[in-house]
Amino acid sequence: MSAVLLLLLGLVSLLLLVLRRSSRTRRDGEPPLIKGWIPVVGKALEFGQNSFKFLLEHQKKHGDIFTVQIAGKYMTFILNPLLFPNIVKDGRHLDFHEFSYKVGSHAFGYPLMKPKEFPGLQEQVSRSFLLLQGDSLSPLTESMLGNLQLVLRQDFLGQRPGEECDWKSHSIYKFCNSVMFEATLLTMYGRPPAASRHSGMDVIMENFVKYDTKFPLLVAQIPLWLLGQTKAIREELTRVFLPQKMTRWSNASQFIRKRLEIFDQFDMLRDLDKAAHNFGILWASAANTVPATFWALYHLVTHPEVAEVVRQELLDVLSQSGVEFSSDRDVTLTREQLDKLVYLDSAVKESLRLSSASMNVRVAMDDFSLRLEGERSVAVRKGDVVTLFPQITHMDPEIYEEPETYRFDRFVQDGKEKKNFYKDGRKLKYYLMPFGSGSSKCPGRYFAVYEIKQFLCLVLLHLDLQLEEGQGGAALDPGRAGLGILWPSADVRFRYRLRAVPPGPTAQ
Ligand code: HEM
Repeated sequence: MSAVLLLLLGLVSLLLLVLRRSSRTRRDGEPPLIKGWIPVVGKALEFGQNSFKFLLEHQKKHGDIFTVQIAGKYMTFILNPLLFPNIVKDGRHLDFHEFSYKVGSHAFGYPLMKPKEFPGLQEQVSRSFLLLQGDSLSPLTESMLGNLQLVLRQDFLGQRPGEECDWKSHSIYKFCNSVMFEATLLTMYGRPPAASRHSGMDVIMENFVKYDTKFPLLVAQIPLWLLGQTKAIREELTRVFLPQKMTRWSNASQFIRKRLEIFDQFDMLRDLDKAAHNFGILWASAANTVPATFWALYHLVTHPEVAEVVRQELLDVLSQSGVEFSSDRDVTLTREQLDKLVYLDSAVKESLRLSSASMNVRVAMDDFSLRLEGERSVAVRKGDVVTLFPQITHMDPEIYEEPETYRFDRFVQDGKEKKNFYKDGRKLKYYLMPFGSGSSKCPGRYFAVYEIKQFLCLVLLHLDLQLEEGQGGAALDPGRAGLGILWPSADVRFRYRLRAVPPGPTAQ
C-alpha cells in the first residue's frame, strides 16, 4: 500500500473517531450535555475566553452539574460546594495524578514518571512534599524571612531613616515579583558559593515571566514548537538548575536536597531531566505566590485604613512578645507570632478568595455512578474529567455577602478565624479553596501563606504606602483561569517611603 493511501486511511479513521466522540449523546442518568457546533473543539473558545462567566451562565440554565465538551474532552462541572465532599473523597474512581504528571512532563520537559520505567519515583516525589509541611516549615519560613529581608534591604530600603525620606514610585506587581521571586529561589535552592545572591537574576525573572505567559497553552498540550521562543527560554531556565551547579550552592531547603537525592537513584534521568524537575518546582512555588502577594498588597495599598489596622495588630503582637523593631536590624517573626495576626490572616484569605480561579480536576478511571449526596448520583464515563471550579463558590452571594467587595475582616469572628459559612442553610466544609482539595491539594500551601504574610509584615513595618492617583482599579485577567491565582490585567503604580521607627513600646 502506498504511503499516500496509508496516510489517507489514517486521516479517515481519525475523522471517524473525532466524529464519534463529537456525536456523543446524553445517556440516562448523565448530567445535561453541552456541545459546541465545532466538532472536538466544542465550547473550548467560549470557555477559554472567560470560564467563570461561561460556567455561571450555564449554571443558570442547567443547574449545578453539567458536562461540557471542551477541546476533545468531556468535562463534568460540579458547582455546588455542598456536593464537593464525596468527590474529593472518591479516590477509587477518580484520579488526579495521571493528569498532573502528563501536564508536568509536557510543560517542563522531563520524561513521564511511568512506574515501569521509574519504579518508586512517583511515590518518593509525593513523599518529599511532606518536607514543605509540619516541622520542616520552621527552617523554611526562617530562611524565607532572612532572604526577604536581604532582598528588600539591598533593593528597596537603601535610604536610612533620619536621612531625607522621599517618596519613590514603583509598580506593585513588579515590586512583589522582584522580592518574592528571588527570596523564594534563594530559600528553596540556596545561594551560590561566596555570594549571598545569584547573578543574572533579572534575566531569570524576565525569562520566567515570558515562559509563564505561555503556561496556559502548555497546559492545553499545545506543542512546544508552535510556541515561538518558549522552548529556548525554557531550556535556559532549566539549565539554571543543572545538578553540577546546584551541588555548589549552600543553604538549599531540605525539600530540594531530598529531591536531588531521589533523582540521583534513577540512572535513566539525565542531568537536564533532573534540572527540569527542579525548574518545575520553581514554577509551582512562584507562579501563584507572586500574583497572590500582588493582590494581598494591592488591597492594602488601596485600603490605607486596613493597612493601618493590620500594621497596628503586628506592632501589638511584636510588643507583647518583647520584640523591639528597629528598621536597621533584621526582625524575627516566628510562626507563633504570625499565627496570632488574625486580621492579617483574614486579609490574605480575602484577597485569595477574590483572585483565585483554580480548577480541581479528576479523571474518571472507569464508567461509574458518582455519588453526590444522599441518594443523588450521576453517571460518569471513563476518561471524562470531573471538575470542581471553586471560583463559583468564592463569588456566591449566598455564601459571601457582596462577594465582589473586599472585606478584610470577612474571615474574623469574635477575635478568631471565622470558619462557618453556609449554603442552603447548611454549614460548608469547602468554602475557600485556593489550594485545591483532597489528594491534589497544594503541598506548599502553609509555606505560601506564611511567606505572603512575612512579606506584608516587612513591607508594613518598613514602608509607608500610597496609591498613585489617576489610575483605575486593578481588574482580574481571566486568561489564566483554571491555573490558580489570576493576574491583574495591568500593573498598578504606588509610592513608598521609609517609615520613621514606630513610637511607643516597640521603638528603640
Ligand atoms: C498562593 C500560592 C499558591 C497557590 C494558590 C497554589 C495553588 C496550588 C494548586 C491549586 C495546586 C493544584 C491542586 C489541585 O489541582 O487540586 C497546587 C499544586 C502544587 N503546589 Fe501550590 N500553590 C501555591 C504555592 C505553592 C508553593 C509556595 C509551593 C512550594 C513551595 C507549591 C507547590 C505545589 C506543588 C509541588 C504542587 C503539585 C502537587 C502534586 O503534584 O500533587 N505551591 N498548588
